[in-house]
Amino acid sequence: MKHTHPHPRATLGGKLSAVLVAAGSSVGLGNIWRFPYVAGDNGGGAFLVIYILCVLLLGLPLMLAEFTVGRASHRNAVGAFRALDPKWGLLGYIGVLSAFLILGFYLVVSGWTAEYMVHSLTGDLAHYSTAAEYEQIFTNFITNPWRPLLYTVIFALATHFIIALGVQKGIERSAKVLMPLLFVVLILLSIHSLLMPGSGEGLRFFFQPDFSKVTPSTLLVAMGQAFFSLSIGIGTMITYASYFKPETNLRHTALNVTILDTLVAVLAGVVIFPAVFSVGIEPSSGPSLVFITLPSIFNGMPLSMVWSTIFFLLLVVAALTSTISLHEVITVYLHEEWHMSRRAAAWATTLSTIVLGAAASLSMGVWSGWSICGMNLFDSLDFVTANIMLPVGALLTCLFVGWRLDREVLHAQMTNNGTLPFRIYRVFILLLRYFCPAVLLLVFLDNLGVF
Ligand code: TRP
Repeated sequence: MKHTHPHPRATLGGKLSAVLVAAGSSVGLGNIWRFPYVAGDNGGGAFLVIYILCVLLLGLPLMLAEFTVGRASHRNAVGAFRALDPKWGLLGYIGVLSAFLILGFYLVVSGWTAEYMVHSLTGDLAHYSTAAEYEQIFTNFITNPWRPLLYTVIFALATHFIIALGVQKGIERSAKVLMPLLFVVLILLSIHSLLMPGSGEGLRFFFQPDFSKVTPSTLLVAMGQAFFSLSIGIGTMITYASYFKPETNLRHTALNVTILDTLVAVLAGVVIFPAVFSVGIEPSSGPSLVFITLPSIFNGMPLSMVWSTIFFLLLVVAALTSTISLHEVITVYLHEEWHMSRRAAAWATTLSTIVLGAAASLSMGVWSGWSICGMNLFDSLDFVTANIMLPVGALLTCLFVGWRLDREVLHAQMTNNGTLPFRIYRVFILLLRYFCPAVLLLVFLDNLGVF
């Protein structure tokens, strides 16, 4: 079964493609929108330290595990587990379902970023001055029944058309243009932020750890954020690795992606925290953080429109390469397992995520009366995916690769059939077999209140 493949598969082209495409998936709203508000809500500097530990000790081995499953099987997330062990197909389904749920709220936030970009460009965002006014506009916007919906749909269609172009022409080419653009913009904005008078307080909050603010839930949140930011736990990296070439060095790719992703999160903190403190907003103000602080800070400056357009362009670009990767997980699953044409599979994905996205968007305004465990649909999608589905998916993936997968397959993938050295292979195996599952399980059970 392992060797027959009913669908001809694309592979990525150039040497850098694997890194760029995987980094395109990882670097996203998770780094620039979610990371700063989660860090702000969990004590700043102390969170940063725990976060980096999670990335290195849990994220990196897991990314390698997903790369292995993807490239060893050359299939979609469900088909990949099934091809390696028929009993493990279910894990792939959890992944596809999670991708769908994440897209549901991710498209909504992506829509906000697109709307803010347009309004920065037209100058509409420059008419206000205080943070309170910006807060009001943000609330008015997200609770409006139509405007966010319109932008959610536009964003879903933009994702759709890139996916429809295929793996090489769509996914690979867009990553090659958009990722460098993102870095240039981010570095520009960081320099700008460092030169701002009074940036010290924000930087201190972000870089000076205060461990008295750490609770057991900080660990879960940091872990969830690390998985979310690296795109781990639901088969995105399995799907992308299924397009990697046999010569691609999986370890270098994973290390580079992890470094780039963490760098973007740290730079996003450098851009955002000085702004947060200088306009006097609570760093713990949640999902609205970047939408309120950044426009209010830009507004006091010369060329405010330009800066704010650039910032929201950055968010749009980051979001787009990530929505593409989430969309691809579902599209290629439908294509290969349900035998739909790629086109039909892409449309089915787009239309169903638009429906979920619309519901999530409306749940913040007209439908806010409906709640699931005290949260509206938007918040519960975010909570359930980042804090439950990603850690569970990650736990099962490391159990599978650490304990169930044929050791030879793992070794062959890590070393490209013995042609590359892998000096810390043993450490990697230890992390994957014992450390990662133990930590994941402990943090998870602790947060369910078992201890
Ligand atoms: N990593 C992306 C971000 O930081 C979002 C994302 C894309 C994702 N694919 C994923 C998150 C898979 C979890 C799992 O914005």
